[in-house]
Amino acid sequence: MSFLTRHLLLPAALLLCLGCTRTESMNSLTDRVFTLAQTQLPLLSESLSDTNTPRSLDKDGNLVTADIGWWCSGFLPGSLWYTYEYTGNEKIRDLAAKESHKLDSLLVRTKPDHDLGFQLNCSYGNAFRATGEAAWRALPEAGARVLAARFSPQAGVLRSWNHNNGGQWRFPVIIDNMMNLELLMRFGDEDCREIALKHARTTVRNHFRPDGTSYHLVDYDPETGAVRGKQTVQGLSDDSAWARGNAWGLYGYTMMYELSGEADMLAQAELIARALLPRLPEDGIPYWDFDDPEIPDALRDASAGAIMASALVRLASLTGDRKLARACRRTAETQLRTLASPAYLAAPGELRGFLLKHGVGHKPAGSEVDVPLTYADYYFLEALLRYNERR
Ligand code: GLY
Repeated sequence: MSFLTRHLLLPAALLLCLGCTRTESMNSLTDRVFTLAQTQLPLLSESLSDTNTPRSLDKDGNLVTADIGWWCSGFLPGSLWYTYEYTGNEKIRDLAAKESHKLDSLLVRTKPDHDLGFQLNCSYGNAFRATGEAAWRALPEAGARVLAARFSPQAGVLRSWNHNNGGQWRFPVIIDNMMNLELLMRFGDEDCREIALKHARTTVRNHFRPDGTSYHLVDYDPETGAVRGKQTVQGLSDDSAWARGNAWGLYGYTMMYELSGEADMLAQAELIARALLPRLPEDGIPYWDFDDPEIPDALRDASAGAIMASALVRLASLTGDRKLARACRRTAETQLRTLASPAYLAAPGELRGFLLKHGVGHKPAGSEVDVPLTYADYYFLEALLRYNERR
Protein backbone atom coordinates (compact mmCIF):
# COMPACT_ATOMS: atom_id res chain seq x y z
CA MET A 1 0.00 0.00 0.00
CA SER A 2 1.47 3.33 -1.00
CA PHE A 3 1.97 6.19 1.41
CA LEU A 4 -0.71 8.15 -0.40
CA THR A 5 -3.30 5.37 -0.11
CA ARG A 6 -2.55 4.68 3.58
CA HIS A 7 -2.44 8.26 4.79
CA LEU A 8 -4.79 10.12 2.51
CA LEU A 9 -7.18 8.03 0.45
CA LEU A 10 -8.18 5.45 3.09
CA PRO A 11 -8.90 7.98 5.86
CA ALA A 12 -10.82 10.11 3.36
CA ALA A 13 -12.90 7.10 2.28
CA LEU A 14 -13.55 6.21 5.93
CA LEU A 15 -14.73 9.75 6.70
CA LEU A 16 -16.98 9.76 3.67
CA CYS A 17 -18.47 6.46 4.73
CA LEU A 18 -19.12 7.69 8.27
CA GLY A 19 -20.71 10.79 6.77
CA CYS A 20 -23.08 8.62 4.74
CA THR A 21 -24.38 6.73 7.76
CA ARG A 22 -24.53 9.69 10.16
CA THR A 23 -28.07 10.39 11.34
CA GLU A 24 -29.59 13.44 9.69
CA SER A 25 -29.96 16.31 12.14
CA MET A 26 -33.52 17.35 12.95
CA ASN A 27 -32.69 20.82 11.58
CA SER A 28 -31.74 19.44 8.23
CA LEU A 29 -34.71 17.04 8.22
CA THR A 30 -37.01 20.00 8.89
CA ASP A 31 -35.41 22.06 6.09
CA ARG A 32 -35.82 19.12 3.74
CA VAL A 33 -39.52 18.69 4.53
CA PHE A 34 -40.35 22.40 4.23
CA THR A 35 -38.41 22.61 0.96
CA LEU A 36 -40.61 19.79 -0.30
CA ALA A 37 -43.75 21.49 1.06
CA GLN A 38 -42.93 24.62 -0.97
CA THR A 39 -43.25 22.61 -4.18
CA GLN A 40 -45.93 20.10 -3.18
CA LEU A 41 -48.60 22.34 -1.63
CA PRO A 42 -48.79 24.72 -4.64
CA LEU A 43 -49.26 21.63 -6.84
CA LEU A 44 -52.22 20.60 -4.73
CA SER A 45 -53.67 24.10 -4.77
CA GLU A 46 -53.28 24.37 -8.58
CA SER A 47 -55.69 21.47 -9.10
CA LEU A 48 -58.51 23.07 -7.12
CA SER A 49 -61.38 25.34 -8.13
CA ASP A 50 -62.25 28.52 -6.20
CA THR A 51 -64.70 26.68 -3.99
CA ASN A 52 -63.25 23.27 -3.22
CA THR A 53 -60.66 21.71 -0.97
CA PRO A 54 -58.47 18.60 -1.33
CA ARG A 55 -59.66 15.43 0.33
CA SER A 56 -57.44 12.55 -0.77
CA LEU A 57 -56.43 10.42 -3.77
CA ASP A 58 -58.52 7.62 -5.26
CA LYS A 59 -57.12 4.16 -6.00
CA ASP A 60 -55.83 5.35 -9.39
CA GLY A 61 -54.01 8.26 -7.81
CA ASN A 62 -56.52 10.92 -8.94
CA LEU A 63 -57.23 13.86 -6.69
CA VAL A 64 -60.49 13.67 -4.74
CA THR A 65 -61.87 17.06 -3.67
CA ALA A 66 -64.69 18.23 -1.41
CA ASP A 67 -66.79 21.33 -0.84
CA ILE A 68 -65.57 23.73 1.87
CA GLY A 69 -68.22 22.32 4.23
CA TRP A 70 -66.04 19.19 4.50
CA TRP A 71 -64.43 19.05 7.96
CA CYS A 72 -60.93 19.19 6.46
CA SER A 73 -61.20 22.51 4.58
CA GLY A 74 -58.87 24.31 7.03
CA PHE A 75 -55.90 21.97 6.65
CA LEU A 76 -54.44 23.00 3.27
CA PRO A 77 -54.54 26.71 4.18
CA GLY A 78 -53.06 25.82 7.56
CA SER A 79 -50.22 23.80 5.98
CA LEU A 80 -49.50 26.76 3.71
CA TRP A 81 -49.37 29.16 6.68
CA TYR A 82 -46.94 26.84 8.46
CA THR A 83 -44.79 26.62 5.34
CA TYR A 84 -44.81 30.40 5.01
CA GLU A 85 -43.84 30.78 8.67
CA TYR A 86 -40.87 28.46 8.27
CA THR A 87 -39.63 29.65 4.87
CA GLY A 88 -40.75 33.30 4.66
CA ASN A 89 -41.72 32.56 1.03
CA GLU A 90 -44.14 35.35 0.00
CA LYS A 91 -45.67 33.29 -2.83
CA ILE A 92 -46.65 30.67 -0.27
CA ARG A 93 -48.12 33.42 1.91
CA ASP A 94 -50.30 34.62 -1.01
CA LEU A 95 -51.46 31.07 -1.62
CA ALA A 96 -52.18 30.60 2.10
CA ALA A 97 -54.36 33.74 2.04
CA LYS A 98 -56.12 32.59 -1.15
CA GLU A 99 -56.88 29.13 0.27
CA SER A 100 -58.02 30.65 3.59
CA HIS A 101 -60.41 33.07 1.86
CA LYS A 102 -62.24 30.11 0.33
CA LEU A 103 -63.75 29.71 3.79
CA ASP A 104 -65.14 33.27 3.94
CA SER A 105 -68.70 32.05 3.39
CA LEU A 106 -68.43 28.98 5.63
CA LEU A 107 -70.89 30.20 8.27
CA VAL A 108 -73.56 31.28 5.79
CA ARG A 109 -73.20 28.76 2.99
CA THR A 110 -72.90 25.52 4.93
CA LYS A 111 -74.67 24.00 7.92
CA PRO A 112 -71.84 24.01 10.44
CA ASP A 113 -71.21 21.31 12.99
CA HIS A 114 -68.51 20.97 15.66
CA ASP A 115 -65.77 20.84 13.00
CA LEU A 116 -65.93 24.63 12.72
CA GLY A 117 -63.03 24.45 15.14
CA PHE A 118 -60.82 22.51 12.74
CA GLN A 119 -61.97 24.53 9.75
CA LEU A 120 -61.55 28.04 11.14
CA ASN A 121 -58.76 27.65 13.66
CA CYS A 122 -56.39 25.89 11.23
CA SER A 123 -57.02 28.40 8.41
CA TYR A 124 -58.00 31.85 9.75
CA GLY A 125 -56.61 31.13 13.21
CA ASN A 126 -53.16 30.43 11.81
CA ALA A 127 -53.49 33.38 9.43
CA PHE A 128 -54.07 35.67 12.41
CA ARG A 129 -51.23 34.12 14.40
CA ALA A 130 -48.76 34.21 11.49
CA THR A 131 -49.54 37.75 10.30
CA GLY A 132 -51.00 39.51 13.34
CA GLU A 133 -53.51 41.16 10.96
CA ALA A 134 -56.77 41.97 12.76
CA ALA A 135 -58.80 41.26 9.60
CA TRP A 136 -58.32 37.54 10.21
CA ARG A 137 -60.04 37.66 13.63
CA ALA A 138 -63.70 38.37 12.82
CA LEU A 139 -64.59 35.03 11.22
CA PRO A 140 -63.07 32.77 13.92
CA GLU A 141 -64.71 34.98 16.57
CA ALA A 142 -68.08 34.55 14.87
CA GLY A 143 -67.33 30.82 14.46
CA ALA A 144 -66.62 30.50 18.20
CA ARG A 145 -70.07 31.93 18.97
CA VAL A 146 -71.74 29.48 16.56
CA LEU A 147 -69.77 26.57 18.04
CA ALA A 148 -70.61 27.58 21.64
CA ALA A 149 -74.34 27.52 20.77
CA ARG A 150 -74.01 23.73 20.40
CA PHE A 151 -73.51 23.40 24.17
CA SER A 152 -76.06 21.57 26.32
CA PRO A 153 -75.84 22.84 29.93
CA GLN A 154 -77.65 19.68 31.10
CA ALA A 155 -75.18 17.30 29.46
CA GLY A 156 -72.18 19.63 29.94
CA VAL A 157 -70.90 19.03 26.40
CA LEU A 158 -71.05 20.44 22.87
CA ARG A 159 -72.86 18.40 20.27
CA SER A 160 -70.59 16.93 17.56
CA TRP A 161 -72.50 15.76 14.51
CA ASN A 162 -75.86 17.21 13.42
CA HIS A 163 -77.37 13.89 12.31
CA ASN A 164 -78.76 11.29 14.71
CA ASN A 165 -77.80 8.12 12.83
CA GLY A 166 -81.32 7.25 11.76
CA GLY A 167 -82.80 7.96 15.19
CA GLN A 168 -80.15 6.02 17.14
CA TRP A 169 -78.52 9.02 18.87
CA ARG A 170 -79.91 12.05 20.68
CA PHE A 171 -76.79 14.12 21.38
CA PRO A 172 -73.66 12.48 19.91
CA VAL A 173 -70.24 13.63 21.10
CA ILE A 174 -67.04 12.24 19.62
CA ILE A 175 -63.58 12.42 21.17
CA ASP A 176 -62.44 14.42 18.10
CA ASN A 177 -64.51 17.30 19.50
CA MET A 178 -61.70 18.02 21.97
CA MET A 179 -59.80 19.54 19.04
CA ASN A 180 -62.53 22.04 18.25
CA LEU A 181 -62.23 23.57 21.73
CA GLU A 182 -59.14 25.43 20.55
CA LEU A 183 -61.35 27.81 18.56
CA LEU A 184 -63.32 28.62 21.73
CA MET A 185 -60.14 29.07 23.77
CA ARG A 186 -58.35 31.30 21.27
CA PHE A 187 -61.20 33.28 19.74
CA GLY A 188 -64.10 33.01 22.19
CA ASP A 189 -65.10 35.24 25.11
CA GLU A 190 -65.10 34.13 28.77
CA ASP A 191 -68.37 32.19 28.30
CA CYS A 192 -66.86 30.28 25.38
CA ARG A 193 -63.76 29.42 27.39
CA GLU A 194 -65.92 28.22 30.28
CA ILE A 195 -67.93 26.03 27.90
CA ALA A 196 -64.70 24.55 26.52
CA LEU A 197 -63.51 23.65 30.02
CA LYS A 198 -66.89 22.14 30.92
CA HIS A 199 -66.86 20.05 27.73
CA ALA A 200 -63.34 18.83 28.49
CA ARG A 201 -64.25 17.89 32.09
CA THR A 202 -67.43 16.03 31.11
CA THR A 203 -65.38 14.20 28.46
CA VAL A 204 -62.84 13.11 31.11
CA ARG A 205 -65.70 11.55 33.08
CA ASN A 206 -67.51 9.80 30.26
CA HIS A 207 -65.19 9.14 27.34
CA PHE A 208 -62.25 7.49 29.09
CA ARG A 209 -61.64 3.95 30.27
CA PRO A 210 -59.63 3.23 33.43
CA ASP A 211 -56.54 2.43 31.28
CA GLY A 212 -56.50 5.97 29.77
CA THR A 213 -57.77 5.01 26.29
CA SER A 214 -61.02 6.50 25.02
CA TYR A 215 -64.31 5.58 23.41
CA HIS A 216 -64.97 7.23 20.09
CA LEU A 217 -68.59 8.32 20.62
CA VAL A 218 -70.70 8.97 23.71
CA ASP A 219 -74.39 9.69 23.22
CA TYR A 220 -76.12 11.88 25.82
CA ASP A 221 -79.67 12.64 26.78
CA PRO A 222 -79.70 16.41 26.26
CA GLU A 223 -82.51 16.93 28.80
CA THR A 224 -81.06 14.96 31.73
CA GLY A 225 -77.40 14.71 30.76
CA ALA A 226 -77.51 10.90 31.22
CA VAL A 227 -75.14 8.84 29.08
CA ARG A 228 -77.23 6.77 26.64
CA GLY A 229 -74.42 4.75 25.07
CA LYS A 230 -70.72 4.47 24.22
CA GLN A 231 -69.49 3.09 20.92
CA THR A 232 -67.12 3.42 18.00
CA VAL A 233 -67.81 4.68 14.50
CA GLN A 234 -64.36 4.80 12.93
CA GLY A 235 -62.53 2.29 15.11
CA LEU A 236 -62.38 -1.50 15.08
CA SER A 237 -64.93 -2.12 17.85
CA ASP A 238 -66.75 -0.27 20.61
CA ASP A 239 -64.14 -1.30 23.17
CA SER A 240 -61.04 -0.89 21.03
CA ALA A 241 -58.63 2.06 21.02
CA TRP A 242 -58.98 3.75 17.61
CA ALA A 243 -55.60 5.38 17.06
CA ARG A 244 -56.65 8.75 15.67
CA GLY A 245 -59.38 9.22 18.27
CA ASN A 246 -56.84 8.60 21.02
CA ALA A 247 -54.41 10.98 19.33
CA TRP A 248 -57.13 13.68 19.23
CA GLY A 249 -57.63 13.20 22.97
CA LEU A 250 -53.91 13.49 23.70
CA TYR A 251 -53.64 16.65 21.63
CA GLY A 252 -56.90 18.08 22.96
CA TYR A 253 -56.00 17.88 26.66
CA THR A 254 -52.44 19.10 26.04
CA MET A 255 -53.87 22.11 24.19
CA MET A 256 -56.47 22.73 26.91
CA TYR A 257 -53.76 22.79 29.57
CA GLU A 258 -51.60 25.10 27.50
CA LEU A 259 -54.47 27.55 27.00
CA SER A 260 -56.13 27.32 30.43
CA GLY A 261 -53.37 26.41 32.89
CA GLU A 262 -55.87 24.08 34.64
CA ALA A 263 -54.07 21.18 36.35
CA ASP A 264 -56.78 18.59 35.58
CA MET A 265 -56.23 19.14 31.85
CA LEU A 266 -52.52 18.35 32.22
CA ALA A 267 -53.25 15.28 34.37
CA GLN A 268 -55.52 13.92 31.65
CA ALA A 269 -52.95 14.54 28.89
CA GLU A 270 -50.32 12.73 30.98
CA LEU A 271 -52.68 9.81 31.61
CA ILE A 272 -53.32 9.45 27.86
CA ALA A 273 -49.60 9.71 27.01
CA ARG A 274 -48.75 7.02 29.56
CA ALA A 275 -51.43 4.78 28.04
CA LEU A 276 -50.37 5.26 24.41
CA LEU A 277 -46.56 5.40 24.48
CA PRO A 278 -46.04 1.75 25.46
CA ARG A 279 -48.46 0.65 22.72
CA LEU A 280 -46.51 2.19 19.83
CA PRO A 281 -44.41 0.08 17.48
CA GLU A 282 -40.68 0.77 17.32
CA ASP A 283 -40.90 3.31 14.48
CA GLY A 284 -43.54 5.29 16.39
CA ILE A 285 -46.38 5.20 13.83
CA PRO A 286 -49.51 3.69 15.38
CA TYR A 287 -51.49 0.93 13.80
CA TRP A 288 -54.84 2.42 12.72
CA ASP A 289 -56.43 0.80 15.81
CA PHE A 290 -54.27 -0.15 18.78
CA ASP A 291 -56.35 -3.32 19.27
CA ASP A 292 -56.44 -4.70 15.73
CA PRO A 293 -55.73 -8.47 16.05
CA GLU A 294 -53.94 -8.28 12.67
CA ILE A 295 -51.04 -6.39 14.32
CA PRO A 296 -48.18 -6.48 13.22
CA ASP A 297 -49.75 -6.83 9.75
CA ALA A 298 -52.44 -4.21 10.36
CA LEU A 299 -52.32 -0.86 8.54
CA ARG A 300 -50.50 2.08 10.07
CA ASP A 301 -52.13 5.52 10.24
CA ALA A 302 -49.72 8.34 9.39
CA SER A 303 -52.31 10.92 10.49
CA ALA A 304 -52.47 9.49 14.03
CA GLY A 305 -48.64 9.46 14.09
CA ALA A 306 -48.43 13.11 13.03
CA ILE A 307 -51.10 14.29 15.50
CA MET A 308 -49.41 12.37 18.30
CA ALA A 309 -45.99 13.80 17.40
CA SER A 310 -47.29 17.36 17.57
CA ALA A 311 -49.04 16.74 20.89
CA LEU A 312 -46.05 14.92 22.40
CA VAL A 313 -43.59 17.69 21.58
CA ARG A 314 -45.88 20.20 23.29
CA LEU A 315 -46.61 17.93 26.27
CA ALA A 316 -42.86 17.39 26.75
CA SER A 317 -42.47 21.12 27.34
CA LEU A 318 -45.47 21.35 29.71
CA THR A 319 -45.30 18.31 31.98
CA GLY A 320 -43.42 18.46 35.27
CA ASP A 321 -42.65 14.73 35.04
CA ARG A 322 -39.14 14.75 33.57
CA LYS A 323 -39.13 11.07 32.72
CA LEU A 324 -42.39 11.43 30.82
CA ALA A 325 -41.10 14.59 29.11
CA ARG A 326 -38.04 12.72 27.84
CA ALA A 327 -40.18 9.83 26.60
CA CYS A 328 -42.57 12.23 24.83
CA ARG A 329 -39.81 14.09 23.01
CA ARG A 330 -37.91 10.93 22.10
CA THR A 331 -41.05 9.30 20.73
CA ALA A 332 -42.02 12.41 18.77
CA GLU A 333 -38.56 12.51 17.21
CA THR A 334 -38.86 8.84 16.20
CA GLN A 335 -42.28 9.52 14.67
CA LEU A 336 -41.00 12.54 12.74
CA ARG A 337 -37.99 10.64 11.43
CA THR A 338 -40.22 7.80 10.26
CA LEU A 339 -42.68 10.17 8.59
CA ALA A 340 -39.80 12.01 6.88
CA SER A 341 -38.44 8.74 5.44
CA PRO A 342 -39.22 7.50 1.91
CA ALA A 343 -41.60 4.92 3.39
CA TYR A 344 -44.02 7.77 4.20
CA LEU A 345 -42.84 11.02 2.56
CA ALA A 346 -43.65 11.84 -1.06
CA ALA A 347 -40.89 12.41 -3.58
CA PRO A 348 -41.11 15.83 -5.30
CA GLY A 349 -44.07 15.86 -7.71
CA GLU A 350 -45.53 12.65 -6.29
CA LEU A 351 -48.99 12.22 -4.68
CA ARG A 352 -50.47 15.19 -6.60
CA GLY A 353 -48.98 17.53 -3.99
CA PHE A 354 -49.81 15.76 -0.73
CA LEU A 355 -46.85 15.14 1.58
CA LEU A 356 -47.52 11.88 3.38
CA LYS A 357 -48.64 8.41 2.33
CA HIS A 358 -50.46 5.84 4.48
CA GLY A 359 -53.27 7.68 6.24
CA VAL A 360 -56.41 5.85 7.28
CA GLY A 361 -59.62 7.90 7.22
CA HIS A 362 -62.61 5.65 7.93
CA LYS A 363 -61.62 2.00 7.74
CA PRO A 364 -64.94 0.40 8.79
CA ALA A 365 -66.66 2.32 5.97
CA GLY A 366 -63.86 1.39 3.54
CA SER A 367 -63.32 5.10 2.90
CA GLU A 368 -59.86 6.72 2.55
CA VAL A 369 -57.85 3.68 3.56
CA ASP A 370 -54.06 3.83 3.15
CA VAL A 371 -54.08 7.18 1.34
CA PRO A 372 -52.74 10.73 1.73
CA LEU A 373 -54.83 12.96 4.02
CA THR A 374 -54.63 16.73 4.45
CA TYR A 375 -54.67 16.47 8.24
CA ALA A 376 -51.70 14.07 8.28
CA ASP A 377 -49.70 16.71 6.35
CA TYR A 378 -50.90 19.59 8.53
CA TYR A 379 -49.99 18.03 11.88
CA PHE A 380 -46.69 16.73 10.48
CA LEU A 381 -45.63 20.28 9.56
CA GLU A 382 -46.93 21.61 12.86
CA ALA A 383 -45.00 18.96 14.81
CA LEU A 384 -41.79 19.93 12.98
CA LEU A 385 -42.33 23.60 13.80
CA ARG A 386 -42.96 22.72 17.41
CA TYR A 387 -39.98 20.40 17.60
CA ASN A 388 -37.79 23.29 16.42
CA GLU A 389 -39.53 25.73 18.78
CA ARG A 390 -40.90 27.75 15.88
CA ARG A 391 -44.55 27.48 16.91
N1 GLY B 1 -62.81 13.99 12.85
C1 GLY B 1 -62.82 12.95 11.92
C2 GLY B 1 -61.65 12.03 11.92
O1 GLY B 1 -60.75 12.07 12.71
O2 GLY B 1 -61.67 11.21 11.04
